[in-house]
Amino acid sequence: MTTQTPQETTKDVPKEIFLRDYKPPSHSFAKVELAFDLREQGTTVRSIISAVPASGSTGELFLHGDESVKLDGVTVNGSAHERYERGSKGLTLKDLPNEPFELSITTTIEPQENTALEGLYKSSGNFCTQCEAEGFRRITFYQDRPDCMSTFTTRIEADKAKYPVLLSNGNLIDSGELEGGRHFTVWEDPWVKPCYLFALVAGNLGMIEDKFKTMSGKDVTLRIFTEKHNIDKCAHAMTSLIKSMKWDEETFGLEYDLDLFNIVAVDDFNMGAMENKSLNIFNSRLVLATPQSATDADYAAIEGVVAHEYFHNYTGNRVTCRDWFQLSLKEGLTVYRDQEFSADMNSRGVKRIGDVSRLRTAQFAQDAGPMAHPIRPESYIKMDNFYTVTVYEKGAEVVRMYETLLGKDGFRKGMDLYFQRHDGQAVTTEDFFAAMSDANGADLSTFKPWYSQAGTPRVTANGSYDADAKTFTLSLTQVVPKTPGQDTKIPVMCPVAVGLVGPDGKDMELTLDGKSVGTTTVLRFDKAEATYTFTGVEAKPVPSILRNFSAPVRLTTNLTQDDLVFLMANDSDAFNRWEAGQTLLRTLLLDLIKGDGQYKMDAAITTAMRAIIAGAKEPNADKAFIARAMMVPSAGELSDMLDEGTVDPAKIHEARTFVMKTLATELRADLEATMKANSAEKYSNEPADRAARSLKNTCIGYLSYLDDAAIAAMTYERFASADNMTDKIAALNSLSDKECDERIKAFAEFYEEWNKDPLVMNKWLGLQAMSNLPNNIANVKALMEGPAFDIKNPNKVYSLIGGFCASSVNFHAADGSGYEFLADVVIKLDDLNGQVASRMVSAFTRWKKYEPSRSSAMRAQLERIRAKKGLSENVFEIVSKSLE
Ligand code: ARG
Ligand code: ZN
Repeated sequence: MTTQTPQETTKDVPKEIFLRDYKPPSHSFAKVELAFDLREQGTTVRSIISAVPASGSTGELFLHGDESVKLDGVTVNGSAHERYERGSKGLTLKDLPNEPFELSITTTIEPQENTALEGLYKSSGNFCTQCEAEGFRRITFYQDRPDCMSTFTTRIEADKAKYPVLLSNGNLIDSGELEGGRHFTVWEDPWVKPCYLFALVAGNLGMIEDKFKTMSGKDVTLRIFTEKHNIDKCAHAMTSLIKSMKWDEETFGLEYDLDLFNIVAVDDFNMGAMENKSLNIFNSRLVLATPQSATDADYAAIEGVVAHEYFHNYTGNRVTCRDWFQLSLKEGLTVYRDQEFSADMNSRGVKRIGDVSRLRTAQFAQDAGPMAHPIRPESYIKMDNFYTVTVYEKGAEVVRMYETLLGKDGFRKGMDLYFQRHDGQAVTTEDFFAAMSDANGADLSTFKPWYSQAGTPRVTANGSYDADAKTFTLSLTQVVPKTPGQDTKIPVMCPVAVGLVGPDGKDMELTLDGKSVGTTTVLRFDKAEATYTFTGVEAKPVPSILRNFSAPVRLTTNLTQDDLVFLMANDSDAFNRWEAGQTLLRTLLLDLIKGDGQYKMDAAITTAMRAIIAGAKEPNADKAFIARAMMVPSAGELSDMLDEGTVDPAKIHEARTFVMKTLATELRADLEATMKANSAEKYSNEPADRAARSLKNTCIGYLSYLDDAAIAAMTYERFASADNMTDKIAALNSLSDKECDERIKAFAEFYEEWNKDPLVMNKWLGLQAMSNLPNNIANVKALMEGPAFDIKNPNKVYSLIGGFCASSVNFHAADGSGYEFLADVVIKLDDLNGQVASRMVSAFTRWKKYEPSRSSAMRAQLERIRAKKGLSENVFEIVSKSLE
């Protein structure tokens, strides 16, 4: 146990579960028949299981079950079975037959009281489920573990007028009317699955329908269900689904395996979405969109998540995880797949830049703090706490590295072998590794530590040119830093993609070890140090290192400012063109932050930025890329790069504001001209229009830093006349840090127009919460009491409370008021929804990063939370690990 024992804080001492303790189940379940009798006051669930004892069975079977589940009765082969013991985590059945038997269990649950939004619960009056990771045990007693795979038949009975739509996994095999205004449906899922993929929906829902013809000519019916008034907002999700189905056939030869595919949108959902077999359930923010109510970013997120959940049908459902430590097996792989899909549908370079930014801001920070864990964690208290940027996004980087090392074709061979070997099985990341290695006859043994070691490797790259020998030598070193519980680390194979850019700005043809290796070569760097010498290098090149961010590492190079400016203009690799500019900006900002408060701009950076903006006038300009390149590193990214015990968010905010303001002042004419040139007469959703929109709005964002009443007036004007949500939100955002009447007017008018649409209201809450206007905490507290907020709805909490935690000025107010407020909210949330509370409390995990007065104030709040009676296991785990 690495966590401290809580003093009477939780009912039981939370138990840590270890990967090394894995044991296969004592019984397999050949078949499961469920029957739900849905009522307003209590739902009855009957489960009939065909159980098969494993060899060496002791006649005992442990079934998980939450304390909230009422057990009505157990029978074995039709007779009442009373030899069982009930504990806080479930039921141990004793004296069971040594041959296959039929087990029947009846339970009663209270979905109408369920605020945790796990298991069966109600959202907007409709019934729905969320079973991953361990929610099925809130429905009935079961071997709630992913290696227990079975076929499911589900009968649902409910009031017909209230719940005309009754859905579960698989095919509809029966339905009919019942007495008392009730009706039923029966669903049969022919594919074996673990119970975390079970789903049920009962509600009064509208539906849109489309069709997809698969590569082998089968027709699949596609349906999206939502509350009736939202039915006109589902078209984009449907288009995204069809594109995903086609892409998976073309890219991986994977064809959908049932005649029906359903998506249901619900308003109350802890996470983004869930891949239940043939019945995906989504947070409505990832389904519903019209140009008037959703931004371009929302459209992109919907496309990506619809694809993600669809792709899980193979990577997650057909082949699932043996245990939850293997979560990255399905999540890392499926994130990689959705990232590739989005890259193919949109601009590849811009997509990669966005993904890497997120990784660097959120995942690198996690990997350097008290919650650092390998993509295959070694232990957990509450699995929900391990649905992390590390398991997902770093996990996706690990999968991407196989592709970088083995090539596109080699990667496809590995995927084919993986499905050939493991279809219908619950497997481990070792099995995936073996399929990739075996299919390619490759020795990847030094790659393995990516699964077991936490922490971001630090790589240095020093290049030197020898004019006489005509060689270019690149020396690499790597160190993997210590993380909690892992004091010693070994080097890990990092694919480092390198090119040499000649004085003419073109990539050189490379020769390494006497072999010609093209213009970009992938070095398999798996030692603490290594040197690579390129020969026949006729002129002094500028090296472009870690192209496309080929490994998730922190890279330091000996490139000069001139080299970086040169790469910004010439690198053929879009990622490194962007990265060169970011490196210049980061260096400047970190110098300002660490300096004596005498801010001075670097003229070379202003010149470089002017050149970037000027690029928008070129005939084939990639405007989405330019908008991205104009972005100054975020406060989060900068904070991650500073030393422990030094971060002062006020200083970071000041330095960033200085840079933005200086650039806006010096480049005002360029920004205004670019803004005007890219302002469309009318909204359109073509890629080129979206790119122009993002460029225009980036310019407005810069201009908003100017203290000029004309800018505020212009921004308000654009807000008021915008014909789409992207422009409206961009304008509102540009006003949200400005002390002016236009801000007050715009927020009030926005509320008037949109207060009936909860998803749009989340944006309104979020923008106000993030504001860095002094003393904005009072506004946030008022919003919490207002009609647009509801603490039981996760989206609203993420917008308002999560948004507030992103405010450098107010969350981090020097008097500690922001921290105290967050702790108050966490304590309140903890009784309602442990998962949401634990996500919110995570804003405190990196308290040691901050300067002494803030870090002690944060620590005091963590201790206050830890002392709460009956603290959820979710929050207990984060708080106690943070305080270690
Ligand atoms: N498997 C889902 C997805 O990534 C996430 C479900 C997470 N649920 C949870 N309670 N942690 O698509
Ligand atoms: Zn997923």
